[in-house]
Amino acid sequence: MTQLKNPIVVTGGAGFIGSNFVLHWIGQKKNKVVNFDLLTYAGNLGNLASIEGNPDHVFVRGDISDRKMVDTLLAEHRPAAIVHFAAESHVDRSIVGPEAFLRANIYGTFTLLEAARAYLATLEGDAKDAFRFLHVSTDEVYGTLEPNDPAFHEDTPFAPNSPYAASKAASDHLVRAWVHTYKLPALITNCSNNYGPLQFPEKLLPLMINNALAGKPLPVYGDGMQVRDWLFVLDHCRAIETVLEKGRIGETYNVGGGNQQANIDVVHMICDLLDELVPDSPHRPYRQLIRFVQDRPGHDRRYAIDARKLETELGWRAQETFATGLRKTVEWYLNNKAWMEEVTSGAYQNWMNANYGHRNEAPLSPATAGAK
Ligand code: NAD
Ligand code: DAU
Repeated sequence: MTQLKNPIVVTGGAGFIGSNFVLHWIGQKKNKVVNFDLLTYAGNLGNLASIEGNPDHVFVRGDISDRKMVDTLLAEHRPAAIVHFAAESHVDRSIVGPEAFLRANIYGTFTLLEAARAYLATLEGDAKDAFRFLHVSTDEVYGTLEPNDPAFHEDTPFAPNSPYAASKAASDHLVRAWVHTYKLPALITNCSNNYGPLQFPEKLLPLMINNALAGKPLPVYGDGMQVRDWLFVLDHCRAIETVLEKGRIGETYNVGGGNQQANIDVVHMICDLLDELVPDSPHRPYRQLIRFVQDRPGHDRRYAIDARKLETELGWRAQETFATGLRKTVEWYLNNKAWMEEVTSGAYQNWMNANYGHRNEAPLSPATAGAK
């Protein structure tokens, strides 16, 4: 960044990807980071324990929908850029309770855009030219693919299917409009499914690892043949860094690992890694814990990302394969059981009951486990 003395503001930097990004950024001794996060159920300061007391990291608890607070934050810290991760991020929760998603993802992004616009008007010269707003978004805005459809491209029309996806699509549209109308120097990244350390165990990989280690059922939705394009979280962080530093204002960049896997295959891989890494477990072979359960309503069948624009224009490449990334991930959860215990205490059990209590967890055949 050219304004080297000024920090960057990271929203949602106590969540899964945000905290990985903050640790990655601080590790490279770039700008200071002002981490602005509401600490919802998904935010965890424990994710940032390794940089506790580091003067290059300032944590501020607050809501991106609170305009007064965001204005004060920007006026006080004079950031060179805003990297916007903060969001409600879990599709199943958006089905159970969509309102929080509209508030955080749409109204929150709107508030942040307006605050950024007002802040930009106070900048001059190089500081104004260098300022960037990077909006972190998802491939789910593009909807779902049939097995032989080409991967999502930056020009694929939006067709969001879940309340989460619709709220993210709305936020992407707001960012686009603020670039077009107000010349806000913003960029958007649309990324596929992330996995890696520090992911809250409501999402597929950490949930399966956590349940397996406890000898609990592994709930695979529907027939388990839904396809996701998995990317190791650090590769996503490096992509965001690349787009922030080299991306063209107003552009969207798709980010993905070129690594499509059916859910059931991912669960099998996790089970087999656990068999290898926890040889004395009474739950081996872990595949015996798999249960096909009632599907997610409106479940998208397949996502796949075409990341060639990011690769050819900006030179980004994913560094992890799924085999290396998955092994690192499983090992991380095995070595960080205290982290898992902390995040699964308290309200976590309420969510597990709300989302899985009504699903038939009998060992159905995949064909009979479809949504009713
Ligand atoms: P997460 O749920 O793990 O973390 C979200 C963070 O945002 C939490 O720390 C939470 O406290 C904070 N937050 C929520 N509402 C807030 C508010 N109103 N004000 C301030 N902070 C608030 O999410 P994640 O998986 O790390 O995803 C981060 C971003 O990346 C999201 O925008 C998500 O849509 C996007 N994304 C995620 C994935 C993925 O696979 N996880 C893939 C592509 C894009
Ligand atoms: O594609 C990017 C998106 O990936 C991000 O924008 C979202 O924030 C992130 O949560 C993720 O969404 P998914 O819905 O794809 O992720 P999740 O981990 O919830 O589910 C992955 C797949 O696994 C999906 O097809 C549903 C299935 N699944 C999930 C859970 C939690 C199961 O079969 N069983 C489960 O218990």
